[in-house]
Amino acid sequence: MWKFMHFLCPSSVCFAVPQPPTITKQSVKDYIVDPRDNIFIECEAKGNPIPTFTWTRNGKFFNVAKDPRVSMRHWSGTLDVDFRSGGRPDDYEGEYQCFARNDLGTAISNKIFLQVSKSPLWPKENLDIQEVHEGSQLILACNPPPGLPPPAIFWMSSSMESIHQDKRVSQGQNGDLYFSNVMQEDALTDYSCNARFAFTHTIQQKNPYTLKVLTKHPHNETSFRNHTDIYSARGITERHPSFMYPIGTSSSQMVLRGEDLLLECIASGVPTPDIVWHKKGGYLPTSRTKFENFNKALHIANVSEEDSGEYFCLASNKVGTSRHTISVRVKAAPYWLDEPENLILAPGEDGRLVCRANGNPKPSIQWLVNGEPIESSPPNPSREVTGDTVMFRDIQIGSSAVYQCNASNEHGYLLANAFVSVLDVIPRILAPRNQLIKVIQNNRTRLDCPFFGSPIPTLRCLNLHSLH
Ligand SMILES: *[C@@H]1O[C@H](CO)[C@@H](O)[C@H](O)[C@H]1NC(C)=O
Ligand SMILES: *[C@@H]1O[C@H](CO)[C@@H](O)[C@H](O)[C@H]1NC(C)=O
Ligand SMILES: *[C@@H]1O[C@H](CO)[C@@H](O)[C@H](O)[C@H]1NC(C)=O
Ligand SMILES: *[C@@H]1O[C@H](CO)[C@@H](O)[C@H](O)[C@H]1NC(C)=O
Ligand SMILES: *[C@@H]1O[C@H](CO)[C@@H](O)[C@H](O)[C@H]1NC(C)=O
Repeated sequence: MWKFMHFLCPSSVCFAVPQPPTITKQSVKDYIVDPRDNIFIECEAKGNPIPTFTWTRNGKFFNVAKDPRVSMRHWSGTLDVDFRSGGRPDDYEGEYQCFARNDLGTAISNKIFLQVSKSPLWPKENLDIQEVHEGSQLILACNPPPGLPPPAIFWMSSSMESIHQDKRVSQGQNGDLYFSNVMQEDALTDYSCNARFAFTHTIQQKNPYTLKVLTKHPHNETSFRNHTDIYSARGITERHPSFMYPIGTSSSQMVLRGEDLLLECIASGVPTPDIVWHKKGGYLPTSRTKFENFNKALHIANVSEEDSGEYFCLASNKVGTSRHTISVRVKAAPYWLDEPENLILAPGEDGRLVCRANGNPKPSIQWLVNGEPIESSPPNPSREVTGDTVMFRDIQIGSSAVYQCNASNEHGYLLANAFVSVLDVIPRILAPRNQLIKVIQNNRTRLDCPFFGSPIPTLRCLNLHSLH
C-alpha cells in the first residue's frame, strides 16, 4: 500500500495518475436556505479523469437539464437555482444527493436535506386579563409559532422596554415567563412575548398580557423600599418552594454526546427560593459547568457518556426545601473510531478498508460500491466483506472502485468514501535529475528523492564520486 496522494502531485503537472473520484466539498446535511435568495447546493469532487456529476432528488434522478431555473457549475456538481425570473423556493425542498463519476468509480455525497426557512405569523388570539393574588405564582405562556430555524424569544413591556429579570421573575428555555411570586409592582406594565427570526431578520410580537394584582395592602412606598422583609411588610403569607418547571419530583432527559446539556428548575415560593444543583454520587464537572438564569439552569458543555446519571436541584427558602431529580441519559450519534482510507494497490497485492464507528445505540455498518449496495454489486472473488472490514486478496487490474461505508443509528449517520485504485505504473523519480547538493563534510544531509511506482519500487541513492 502506498499513500502518495498527499505529496505527489497537487495538480496533474508532473504526470497523470488515474484516480477514482473524491468528494471535496458538499452542503451540510441539514441545509436551511433563505427564501429571498437563490439556492445553491454544493458538490465538488476531484479525480482523474475529471468526474462528471449527477443528482438525485428524493431518491429519484434529478434531471437538471430539464429545469430552466437550475444550472450546474462548470467543473463542479454545484447546483444553482435562480428565482430572478420567478419560481418558488419551497418547490425545491427535499433530499438531494450528488454522484461524482469517472471511469474508475463513483463517489457519493451525504443526503442533503434542503428546507426553506420559515417565520410564520403569530396566530390571532385574545388574551384575558390575568388576575392574580400578590404572592402567588404565575406563568405567562409564550407559545411562539414554529419557525425554521426556531426563533429567539424575548419579553417586552408595553413601553417596548425589555422586562427586567431576576431571581423572582425570569424567562424559561421554552420562552414562557415565570414569576416565583407576583408583586404588586408587576402590574405596572403589560407583557408581550417577541420572536426574532434570524434568517429573515423579522420580529413578531404576541398580543400583550395585562396583569391585575389583587393585594391586601395598597401600594406603600415605605414598606416597598425595605427589601429585607418586603413580603411580611405587605402581608403576603410565606410559602414552601414548589416547582413550576419541571412539574413533580422527577423527570428525565436525553442528550447526545458532544452536545450541551441544559437542565432547568424553576420554583415558586415566598420568599423567592434559591436553587442549587448536585449530581448524585458525583461532582459536577467544574470546567464544563455553568449556572445560568439566576442558578435556575445548569449548563454542561460537550457531554460524554460519563455525564449520564441522576442530577437534582434543590429549591429552598426560609420555610423549607423542595427537590426535583432529573435522570440524564447520554446517547450518541455515530462517531468515527477508524475512517476508511484510500487504498492504492498493485495487481496481486492485498489490502483492506476498515470502517469502525461507535455510538449509542451501536451503529450498524452498510457498505456500498460506487453508490450501490455491495450485495447487489457485480461479484468480485478477490473481495470479502466481514462487518466493518472489506478485505482484498490478490487484487486484479480493473478492480478500482469507490467504496462507501455508512455507519448509522437512530440518531444519525456517517458516510465515508474511500477508493481502491489498482495501478500498474513503472517506477520513476519525481525530482529534477542531476541536482547538485552542496554538503559540509561530516555534517548529516537529507537528500530528497521523491519517487513513485506501483508496486512500490525499492530505492537506492548512490554516491557517484565514491564509485570512482
Ligand atoms: C445511511 O443509512 C441510514 C440508515 O439506513 C439512512 O437513513 C441514510 O440515508 C444513509 N445515508 C446515505 C448517505 O445513504
Ligand atoms: C406602610 O407600611 C409601614 C410599614 O409596614 C406602616 O407602618 C404604614 O402604616 C403603612 N402605611 C400605609 C398607608 O398603609
Ligand atoms: C426593614 O425590615 C427589617 C426586618 O423586619 C427591620 O429590622 C428594619 O427596621 C426595616 N427597615 C425599615 C426602614 O423599615
Ligand atoms: C469534547 O470532548 C471530547 C472528549 O470527550 C474532546 O475530544 C473534544 O475536543 C471536546 N470538544 C470540544 C468542542 O470541546
Ligand atoms: C549541518 O546540517 C544541519 C541540518 O542537517 C544544518 O542545519 C546546518 O546548517 C549544517 N551546518 C552547516 C555548517 O552547513
